[in-house]
Amino acid sequence: MIIQNVALGNRGYDIFIGNQIINSITDILHTLNPNQKSVVIITETNVADLYLKMLNDVLIEKGYEIHSLVLPSGESTKSLLFFEQVMRFCLQHNVERNHALIAFGGGVIGDLTGFVASTLRRGCRFIQIPTTLLSQVDSSVGGKTAINSLEGKNLIGTFYQPSAVIIDIQFLKSLSNRVYRSGYAEVIKYGLLGDKQFFDYLRHHNDLFLVRDTHFLMNIIAHCVKMKADIVSRDETEQGERALLNLGHTFGHAYEAETGYSDILHHGEAVAIGMVDAAEFSYRLNYLSLSDVSMVKKFLVEVGFNITIKDYASHISAEIILKHMMQDKKVSNNQMTLILLNNIGHAFINKNTDIQVLSDYLFNKIL
Ligand SMILES: NC(=O)c1ccc[n+]([C@@H]2O[C@H](COP(=O)([O-])OP(=O)(O)OC[C@H]3O[C@@H](n4cnc5c(N)ncnc54)[C@H](O)[C@@H]3O)[C@@H](O)[C@H]2O)c1
Repeated sequence: MIIQNVALGNRGYDIFIGNQIINSITDILHTLNPNQKSVVIITETNVADLYLKMLNDVLIEKGYEIHSLVLPSGESTKSLLFFEQVMRFCLQHNVERNHALIAFGGGVIGDLTGFVASTLRRGCRFIQIPTTLLSQVDSSVGGKTAINSLEGKNLIGTFYQPSAVIIDIQFLKSLSNRVYRSGYAEVIKYGLLGDKQFFDYLRHHNDLFLVRDTHFLMNIIAHCVKMKADIVSRDETEQGERALLNLGHTFGHAYEAETGYSDILHHGEAVAIGMVDAAEFSYRLNYLSLSDVSMVKKFLVEVGFNITIKDYASHISAEIILKHMMQDKKVSNNQMTLILLNNIGHAFINKNTDIQVLSDYLFNKIL
């Protein structure tokens, strides 16, 4: 087992990474509060069908009383409706401030449960047990919690750190190829934004990614989590450096918004296209070489990603994408902030991206 720490003073916490380490949950609960006798688990149908009994057995063996709430799978669960349902379930089962809730699922369950934990009795503890690759390398670490509203995605949320994260590789075996690959976009993102050696390591080990090699997954997850933990401990609330983690995301969010945050385009698939945009646009602005752009595209294709939005949705126009990007990011003086690349392994925050130049790029690319 690898243990990493997010150094945030009295809000700091450990991240446990390993294969078949789910039983460490009881030690963690005991360390957090030896008097907690009952546990509320928030999960969703797919994860519950596969793994809830396993988690229950571990907890029952140590004498915990369990109350689990199984929500529908999917992005629409990150809503005010389910926020209320989870909140009331917790209150009905007497969750106290010094009790830890358990978020057992992918990014949807983690974001929703974290948001509930941050507001329940003005803040109670929660433990993340992420079950998708995306949630293991990204969303379970760093304390961004959120739900969606009709007005947009992740518009209601908090910065609220978990008390512990248990990353158990065994859960990744049952992911569909598409969900597994989608999470891998975030892994590639870490290499692209800050570690060329890691990017090259990934490029040269695509075979291990495809077979879901346990040792490989342990290594890459630990590496990403360390990068994220270090960035978050320096910039918890995204005043600066943490924004680098949004590489590819402003373009990606625009594609997701236009496809209705649906199964047409998964988050990681949008991020993969967004990273190609960030690379191509950086080339357009003379920050990145053409050979680096080609390398990014070639690698993403080898992994199995489509790298143009037209492969997912043929109706999309440059105007609409620009409109979404301008809604997502503040525009002042006809400029917006974008994360760009000046090398593979080196992203930077470009605070004054000219909207006209961006518009030219999108029109030439999409039309
Ligand atoms: N908080 C953050 O910092 C942050 C960062 C990135 C993304 N996010 C959020 O994360 C969400 C996406 O997360 P996600 O990709 O994990 O989505 P998800 O939670 O919807 O999971 C994707 C699919 O995998 C299924 N699944 C989950 N675990 C499984 C398992 N072990 N085996 C088989 N199937 C399993 C789910 O039922 C679902 O169908 C989005 O809402 C996004 O906004 C948050």
